[in-house]
Amino acid sequence: MQTILIVDDEFPVRRTLGMFLSLEGFEVLEAGSVSQAREMLVAKRVDVLITDMRLGDDTGTSLLAQLHEQGNDVASIVMTGYGSIESAVEAMRLGAYDYLTKPVNPDELVLRIRKLLDQRALHEEVLRLRDQLAGKSQLGHIVAHSPAMQNILEIVERIRSRDIPVLITGETGTGKEVLASAIYHTSSRAQKAYITVNCATLPEELLDSELFGHMKGAFTGAISSSKGLFQQANGGTLFLDEIGDISPRLQAKLLRVLQEGEIRPVGGQKAVKVDVRVIAATNRDLAAMVRSGEFREDLFFRLNVLMVHIPPLRERREDVPALVKHFVGRVAEAQQRHDVGLTREAMQKLVAYDWPGNIRQLQNVIECSFALHSGPVLGAAEVLITAIGAARSHEEDEQLLPLAEIAMRHIQRVLAAHGGNQVASAKVLGVSRSTLRRKLGETG
Ligand SMILES: Nc1ncnc2c1ncn2[C@@H]1O[C@H](COP(=O)(O)OP(=O)(O)OP(=O)(O)O)[C@@H](O)[C@H]1O
Ligand SMILES: [Mg+2]
Repeated sequence: MQTILIVDDEFPVRRTLGMFLSLEGFEVLEAGSVSQAREMLVAKRVDVLITDMRLGDDTGTSLLAQLHEQGNDVASIVMTGYGSIESAVEAMRLGAYDYLTKPVNPDELVLRIRKLLDQRALHEEVLRLRDQLAGKSQLGHIVAHSPAMQNILEIVERIRSRDIPVLITGETGTGKEVLASAIYHTSSRAQKAYITVNCATLPEELLDSELFGHMKGAFTGAISSSKGLFQQANGGTLFLDEIGDISPRLQAKLLRVLQEGEIRPVGGQKAVKVDVRVIAATNRDLAAMVRSGEFREDLFFRLNVLMVHIPPLRERREDVPALVKHFVGRVAEAQQRHDVGLTREAMQKLVAYDWPGNIRQLQNVIECSFALHSGPVLGAAEVLITAIGAARSHEEDEQLLPLAEIAMRHIQRVLAAHGGNQVASAKVLGVSRSTLRRKLGETG
């Protein structure tokens, strides 16, 4: 049932309207003064506020102004005496939805109330849908055809409104960062801060003061205090990437934050309360690290309230064609040409490959192959799968190859490392760009 609060200092007026509205099926509250109205608004959820403008020595506008200031957006309708349109305008400026001149016709009032409630409901529905859509479109960036990936997206969808810590595991290049960002964007904290930190790239001391902040003079060079990432992420989400790489000392510190919800900056005495949702990711086997004593079990359980494991690409080959299409589409967009594509054989070659570098490697292969090939359509031979992290096997293979072939392979590796950028690659190779193009068999 919808609750209506009527504020009028004339008892007969509020009682007549009140009775009428009760008969229409509303729950009605009556107040004779601004202070009484304020008490009721605190004590009870009110859907519509109907207030007179002149209330003894107070005014309806001051009531609205107070509510406005408190961020209370209760829907309101003001009643004004004949000839005091200015105050009605003022009331509308303060967020009143509508106004009626006195004496108020009860039928007219009911009509306006219903219209207002309908509009409110519609507005809320729009907000809800927009919210849902924003979440959906975030998930829409993630290519997920395989049942395993579909299942992951369903889980993300299901935990949208829950602030639980999530631990994402998976081999390198499987899309852990992409997933973390999607979880953030679909969460109830989507409008709040999202801060990401890679725990593997910073030395321990630096990571410590980055995460927890430090006080002025905490160490040499700390010439001013600084807020750590936990504080910067307050109210929002912190993504701790490569969590498996943090030192035992920082593991202990992190555990304390997660347990107690407060941090102690380096060199600081006072604890600071923080409210941060943590998403962590690692390509290491944390459970095995717990067993071997490298990772604290208690921290593991804190982070691992929900574990999402992204399987390697070779275990979900159904995703390869869709991913290829996705990346080819990006090449088409970047090169402003719409005739790019692959032959069936080329696609088969990609699906059959094992992808030790997972999606990132697939993306590189597509981008480099198109960069090196001048035609719009790639055949199987033009799909250049440059192995990652396999330098040793290259050396072994290359011992028996002709010089030109070794040179060609080297050129392709350099190009791959530079995302197909010929200018950058030529610089590294110590040749001009036109020489590079000639070696690649291109003219001009
Ligand atoms: N499902 C997906 N759909 C589309 N693109 C994806 C998907 N998963 C990953 N990618 C792309 O693959 C690349 C690697 O993804 P990401 O950086 O998230 O991997 P990662 O698991 O964090 O890797 P690492 O362990 O090396 O840090 C990115 O360019 C990302 O945009
Ligand atoms: Mg990553």
